[in-house]
Order: sequence, then structure tokens, then C-alpha cells
Amino acid sequence: MRSVLQAPSVLPQANDPCWCGSGRKYKRCHKRSEGRVLPGEISPMRSVPDHIARPTYADTGEPVAWDEPRIKSPETIERMRHAGVVAAEILRLTGEFLRPGVTTDEVDEYCHQLYIERDSYPSTLNYHHYPKSLCTSANEVICHGIPDSRAMRDGDIMNLDVTAFVGGVHGDTNATFLIGDVDPQGRELVRITEECTWKGIEAVKPGRPISDIGRAIEEHAKAHRLGVVKAFVGHGIGEQFHSDIQVLHYYDSRNSMIMRPGMTFTIEPMITLGTWQHKMWDDEWTAVTADGKRTAQFEHTCLVTESGVEVLTAGEGAVSPSAPWSR
Ligand code: MF3
Ligand code: CO
Ligand code: CO
Repeated sequence: MRSVLQAPSVLPQANDPCWCGSGRKYKRCHKRSEGRVLPGEISPMRSVPDHIARPTYADTGEPVAWDEPRIKSPETIERMRHAGVVAAEILRLTGEFLRPGVTTDEVDEYCHQLYIERDSYPSTLNYHHYPKSLCTSANEVICHGIPDSRAMRDGDIMNLDVTAFVGGVHGDTNATFLIGDVDPQGRELVRITEECTWKGIEAVKPGRPISDIGRAIEEHAKAHRLGVVKAFVGHGIGEQFHSDIQVLHYYDSRNSMIMRPGMTFTIEPMITLGTWQHKMWDDEWTAVTADGKRTAQFEHTCLVTESGVEVLTAGEGAVSPSAPWSR
């Protein structure tokens, strides 16, 4: 057995020598990783029964993009409504399963079963070889955290990102949940992030440029001195998981596509306590804040209507807006 150095219960001051005996200042040594999310063991891929329809990339791990109309037919919209309800329900139920001590791999196992019970395929599974059925992103993890052997801890904030493929289309939604007792700063981050998502959704109007969405999100984040991640954006969605519409979560005049009734895309801002800049783990999936400070996210799949917006993942059965912190 390998012996692992354990941090003492009383930690040094930043400029004192590190407790590990390296001779370096504590702040240049173990202080950097303490309290951070560390990668755990990833279990083997779970399988989906044959009677469930699979997206084209499910067997190869390599999606091949095709031309898909940005404006969906009424028949496709009907199928997307259903995929949205399924994704929303799986997200809510998986959120209810979270508690300190449970590993994110156990969360994946539970969530995987929920997809199957609803005859849906977990869209992330083998998407560009991603190995799991949802993304679990804790604390400083911005997005695409892979479920593994790490147990949730009291005080964590945990984003679950669920995407269901059913009826030939995808529904994509995520939310950040509070694990046990979260400090006031963490709760505030989560609350403002959900508000940012809804400010973005309220900016959806036919005939307006899609940059209105990022403008509304950024304005609200800035008013609370929070950062907006730039590297990950909302996306067109339908028969393909990610199609060519891009929804920036900050203002950029070049994000000028005009919103039209029948368009479907996600809005999914990632808001930070510190820097908006990110780093990648060696697994090439997990994106974390460059300064290690916490970040939160909420996501909905949206349809542009004649009068505004229909949120396909926020209906009956969805996580209710204030649920994560009012429980
Ligand atoms: N659901 C994520 C999104 O909101 C995408 C996850 S892709 C994966 O767009 F491969 F990381 F799972
Ligand atoms: Co998405
Ligand atoms: Co998502």
C-alpha cells in the first residue's frame, strides 16, 4: 500500500514552510491544491439496451455533422418538447439523489438508469468518446466534469448536466445544486447564476440579434462583480447535440445572427467568483477556473416563438427555479 501524506489539521500561514517538508513556502506548495477537486477513478462505460434508439456517434464515438435546418418543423418541435421534458425530469431526480458521501460515479449509475427507464439515450455517452451519462462539475470545475470515485462533500456546489436523446432529438439542461451547508458566497453565486440564465432567456425575441442574450447575462453578472466564462457557449440543438448556432454568454456585436421563430438553442452561462479564464485537466474534458475559485452554471433548451421564447426544459417536472437553495 502507498502511504499518502495527509495535511495536518492546523495549516501553516501562506509564507511559512509547507507542512509536507518540501522546504517550499506553503503558498507555493500544497496550499494550491488544498480544497480543490482532484481527479478520481473512472469506472468502465455503462451500456444502453438495444431497444433504445442511439444517436449516430454512439458506436464510433465520433459525431459527423450534417446540414440541419435551423428552423425546426412543427413535428420536430413536438419531438423536442418531449426530449426537453425527459431531460428536465432526469435532472430533477438526479439532483434529489445528491448528498455528502455519495460519489459522482454513483450519481452516474443512478442517472443512467433514469434515461433507460424513459427509453432515452444519454447523449453524452461516447460523444467524442466522453465516457459517462452526464457531466458532474463541482466547485471550481466549470463544465464537463467526468463522474468518478470522488465523494461529494458538505459545502460543495455541484452542477449536473443532463442531455437526453429520445424521438431522434436531444434535450439539454443543467443546474447547480447545493450539497449540505454551502457558505453564503457559494449560495449567492448559485442564485445569481440562475438569475443570469433567466435574464438571457428573457432576452430571446424573434427579429433581435442573438447577442442580446449575452448582453443581458453579462450585465447581470457584472453588477454582482462576477465573471463570465468565454470559452464555452450555448449551441444550436435538435437532431444533433451541438449544431451551428452559437450563443455567447457575454456581449459581442459579431454574435449577430437574427433569432427566428422555430430556432432551438441552449443558453448555459458559466459564472465565476474570480477569473473567467479556464484551464483544462489532463483528461482533456474537465475545465476548471484558472484561479481555482468556484463557478456555477444553469442551462435550458429554448425555442424561439412568434412572441418570444418557450423553454423546453423548464416545464412540469423540471427543477423549479429556486429549488436548489431553498431545500
Ligand atoms: N451537455 C453539455 C452542453 O451543455 C455538453 C456535454 S458534451 C460531453 O453542451 F461530451 F462533455 F459530455
Ligand atoms: Co448544452
Ligand atoms: Co448541457
